[in-house]
Amino acid sequence: MKIAVAGTGYVGLSVALLLSQHNEVHALDIVPEKVEMLNRGKSPIVDTEITRFLNGKQDGSMPLNFTATLDPKQAYAGADYAVVATPTNYDPQKNYFDTSSVEAAIAAIREQNPTAWIVIKSTIPVGYTADLRKKLGDKRIIFSPEFLREGHALYDNLYPSRIVAGAPVDDEEATDAARAFVDLLAHGADPAELERTNADGTVGIPQLVCGTTEAEAIKLFANTYLALRVAYFNELDTYAEARGLSAREIIKGVCLDPRIGDQYNNPSFGYGGYCLPKDSKQLLANYANVPQNLIGAIVAANSTRKDFVADEILARVGEKMNPIVGIYRLTMKSGSDNFRQSSIQGVMKRIKAKGITVLVYEPTLNAPDFFGSEVTHDLDAFKRRADVIVANRWNAELSDAADKVFTRDLFRRD
Ligand SMILES: NC(=O)c1ccc[n+]([C@@H]2O[C@H](COP(=O)([O-])OP(=O)(O)OC[C@H]3O[C@@H](n4cnc5c(N)ncnc54)[C@H](O)[C@@H]3O)[C@@H](O)[C@H]2O)c1
Repeated sequence: MKIAVAGTGYVGLSVALLLSQHNEVHALDIVPEKVEMLNRGKSPIVDTEITRFLNGKQDGSMPLNFTATLDPKQAYAGADYAVVATPTNYDPQKNYFDTSSVEAAIAAIREQNPTAWIVIKSTIPVGYTADLRKKLGDKRIIFSPEFLREGHALYDNLYPSRIVAGAPVDDEEATDAARAFVDLLAHGADPAELERTNADGTVGIPQLVCGTTEAEAIKLFANTYLALRVAYFNELDTYAEARGLSAREIIKGVCLDPRIGDQYNNPSFGYGGYCLPKDSKQLLANYANVPQNLIGAIVAANSTRKDFVADEILARVGEKMNPIVGIYRLTMKSGSDNFRQSSIQGVMKRIKAKGITVLVYEPTLNAPDFFGSEVTHDLDAFKRRADVIVANRWNAELSDAADKVFTRDLFRRD
């Protein structure tokens, strides 16, 4: 089967490589450097499995049928499915996702191919697919939410928590296409996954085909729950810090309840990354005229946490003349090179607004400054020059400067 993918970011590239094990896949991007890198077998993003697949294709040990291209005709003409995985950034002016890249990709697909099933994998507002199908008069558009984690993008498709696709419930043909797309993704997963036993006793990868609007809601409610969980343990930590209590002991005791569980509970400077901040804001926007308290609180909690963290840092700086606050890594997670919407940036903005000089240690950033703050790759000089070192995640290389470090990474994990 010929499959086209629009966008070769975390989502598009991982889906494209997964499907290229059993299908002919053409992935289109509008950035020539990305296309060129991919066709040389190099990954534009840090991801162990993506690198393994691209290396395997290059040396011939993995027979993947994958090409990257800038040419819409090569990618889209004759494709059975065209997967759209382009960005949907949150537009603070409109208070909604900017879906223009999805619409541009769909227009480009339809110019070459009037019949391909278009599967939107980008995260979109609740109700978007139904509105677009109506607006374009195009019944061959469906939606499949993506649940991968950045840095584990292809891994999470090889070992998926679940596969979901949405089609209008009264449209049999679209529902069949959604089911067939779920099968394609499941076929690409590690074969052992088909035999796995899930927590509820079921065997295989959990699969769900539902309405498009429900599928869109699944994505936004799942990410907003994750944001809630981060915000909850962060607020617990804020309370413990403010009252001089051990957050570590409280979290341990709380999470021994198996209904709560000892995962995803390590305090941080806030939830971040590309998806959680924007998806929770989009869900709040979707609640217009629907009563709620919690969704708004989840969005607001992230700013409150960053305010608190910034105040804690300022308290450590104290009355020192011309202090330097060192930011150890801009990334959200250890071992990552990605700092889109990382929470430490919100903390930086707050302390810079108080006139504090900020020095950034970020080895993956090849620029002399970051929003006007000096960037260094010299860790020793960084540790020497900073009066306080702020680390969202601890790293052993900070050990010899531990007395300067401010972190809330209590459990030394992401
Ligand atoms: N990153 C994640 O963890 C994640 C997880 C689930 C869902 N999502 C959603 O998936 C979508 C894509 O996210 P991402 O992280 O892969 O984004 P990304 O920014 O890493 O990649 C998007 C790619 O699309 C390309 N692009 C832009 N316009 C295009 C067009 N018209 N045609 C073809 N390519 C185009 C860009 O050049 C870029 O390479 C977003 O809606 C996001 O919310 C992301």
